[in-house]
Amino acid sequence: MQKLLIIDDNEEVRRQLKWGLSRSNYELLFACDGAEGLALFEKHQPEVVTLDLGLPPFENGVEEGLRVLGKILRLNPLAKVIVITGNEEHDAALKAVQLGAYDYYKKPIDLNELKVIVDRAMYLQTLETENRNLRQQSVNELGIVGECPGIRQVFTQIERVASSDVPVLITGESGTGKELVARAIHKKSLRADKEMVCINCGAIPENLLESELFGHEKGAFTGANKTVKGKVEYADKGTLFLDEVGEMPMQLQVKLLRFLQEMVITRVGGRKDIGVDVRIITATNIDINEAMANGTLREDLFYRIGVMNIALPPLRERGDDIELLANYFNKSVNIGPRKDIKNFSREAMDSIRGYEWPGNIRELENRVKRAVIMANGPTITPEDLGLSPDEAVRARQRADDISLKEARSLLERDMVESALNRHSGNVAKAAGALGVSRPTLYDLMKRHGIRGD
Ligand SMILES: Nc1ncnc2c1ncn2[C@@H]1O[C@H](COP(=O)(O)OP(=O)(O)OP(=O)(O)O)[C@@H](O)[C@H]1O
Ligand SMILES: [Mg+2]
Repeated sequence: MQKLLIIDDNEEVRRQLKWGLSRSNYELLFACDGAEGLALFEKHQPEVVTLDLGLPPFENGVEEGLRVLGKILRLNPLAKVIVITGNEEHDAALKAVQLGAYDYYKKPIDLNELKVIVDRAMYLQTLETENRNLRQQSVNELGIVGECPGIRQVFTQIERVASSDVPVLITGESGTGKELVARAIHKKSLRADKEMVCINCGAIPENLLESELFGHEKGAFTGANKTVKGKVEYADKGTLFLDEVGEMPMQLQVKLLRFLQEMVITRVGGRKDIGVDVRIITATNIDINEAMANGTLREDLFYRIGVMNIALPPLRERGDDIELLANYFNKSVNIGPRKDIKNFSREAMDSIRGYEWPGNIRELENRVKRAVIMANGPTITPEDLGLSPDEAVRARQRADDISLKEARSLLERDMVESALNRHSGNVAKAAGALGVSRPTLYDLMKRHGIRGD
């Protein structure tokens, strides 16, 4: 049900409106001063508000009314506020409209007239809200939120590669949206009405991966009691997405390369060449050059799959996008019957900006969604997000002048934390990644007060 909030210090007026509007289709809320009005507004998000300008402590002035108006519009710029004025307050009424009030109405109140104004405001508010939601949908037609230069470049690259069949390699830290981008390319391609088949090369045991990819013939190995098609065949005419391609075993890399060169496959245990028509998209979060130098990734394979590289920036390099994304995830939990949308407190946004986000957008999504559920009050706090308010302080410290020694120490702490995060608290692995011994890492953890799992 749509809600109408009435803010008026005059009990007589409140009673008159309560009686007069009780049979309208709106849920009515009443407040007798600015503070109560704002609290109800935040809590219930009413579509329309009638606001008496002469509120205590300035019953005979308009200051308090205008202040409340400003606050309401800051909380929700789409709210429709109808200002109620005394006879002599014409200038103030105009000022209110300039500030963004929807309309004004002069006392004494004629209920029928006021009802018409309220109905129209409700109608308009609904239209505008629907309109805005539609617009937001089309902006994010690909489901990729962001406006920073780094992500705009990604949009351009997606447009450029989508309609051709060139192989695309998507690189980026864990949780930066590689799969999302792969889906976007597929959706924009001429193959959109066919499947995009995903296969995670890192998650399937080496001995099963070949059969998973290329299929097998009946009797190819023990347990192969019927012929099974591989993922590549299922992707025919569509897109094949090879996730974590950097984890693919060497011997399979050779077979993958042959398939990419000739676009034919042979099932395990089979002899027949089967032609397929697929577009290849690959993704990895490992450092490609390092993998080639170490010999874990074949160079010739890389040159095949990496014809076009889309590199996704980590979240900490996306500037203001982090706020867009946080709000986006917040809203996406709030859809449905729930209307008590929670906003981020100032401190919460500061801590979001200050945090390093080793798990990138996936981590942000998880923390925000959990916070929405955890938050008790109308706003989300740093604690709800599992972030310490210090993150905000640390963000500022990073920006301010600090000594080299402090900077080194901050960086050290960040690196240790993020290595531990990336390896789920596994000290041996984190030490390996940082290039230090385990005892050294324990020392560093102790020095920075970081606990291992
Ligand atoms: N720009 C974005 N806008 C909205 N949602 C995003 C964006 N980028 C990522 N996401 C969301 O973040 C989550 C992680 O994205 P995705 O799975 O594509 O990342 P990934 O790089 O493949 O991660 P991993 O390396 O761990 O496989 C998904 O839920 C995805 O929808
Ligand atoms: Mg992924």
